[in-house]
Amino acid sequence: MQISIRTWEIEDVPDFITAINNEKVLDNLRDGIPYPCTEKEATAFIEATMNLDDDTRYLFAITCDNKAIGSMGVFRKDNVHRLTAEMGYYLAESYWGKGITTTAIKLTCTYIFENTDIIRIFAQPYTNNKASCRVLEKAGFKNEGTMRQNAIKNGQLMDMEMYALIKE
Ligand SMILES: CC(C)(COP(=O)(O)OP(=O)(O)OC[C@H]1O[C@@H](n2cnc3c(N)ncnc32)[C@H](O)[C@@H]1OP(=O)(O)O)[C@@H](O)C(=O)NCCC(=O)NCCS
Repeated sequence: MQISIRTWEIEDVPDFITAINNEKVLDNLRDGIPYPCTEKEATAFIEATMNLDDDTRYLFAITCDNKAIGSMGVFRKDNVHRLTAEMGYYLAESYWGKGITTTAIKLTCTYIFENTDIIRIFAQPYTNNKASCRVLEKAGFKNEGTMRQNAIKNGQLMDMEMYALIKE
């Protein structure tokens, strides 16, 4: 099982749809992702990732033996936070619990630190998302505290954790 990250390809549309069309995934992400995600929406997303030409967003497919099984995104902040970036990710449910996201996060952070001037990568899982908190800890991120009632998701106020990794 070869786990890697790579740019999205248009052939990934069916696998993209499989991974994202899952309420257990969407419940742990920000709002705004269409559900169910259609072929047209998935195609538009992948085409957009293929045309990125700035240094503010880095979007990858997480792959298992080159099959797209998840998504990884790193988004640069601006102004005085311009050397900081936020990371977001999800994995198709059938691949959970195999250490894959931990590997993908490590690969992504190595890529970002080696190829950009970003020196801090952070992620903000909902406090009740124990799997995501654990993944970040396994990938070397440090917990910097709890942001109380930092979001409203599915009508519920949510605490969030701040995890960050600093370039050595
Ligand atoms: C969070 C997510 C990315 C994890 O991916 P994964 O590949 O299954 O993660 P890993 O296998 O690398 O590690 C999961 C860890 O969480 C632990 N875990 C899973 N569920 C848990 C729970 N309910 N409570 C405590 N720990 C839990 C696992 O035991 C494992 O830790 P271990 O290796 O010490 O045993 C995946 O579940 C997912 O896509 N979730 C929905 C989207 C999401 O939450 N994205 C992140 C938003 S911040």
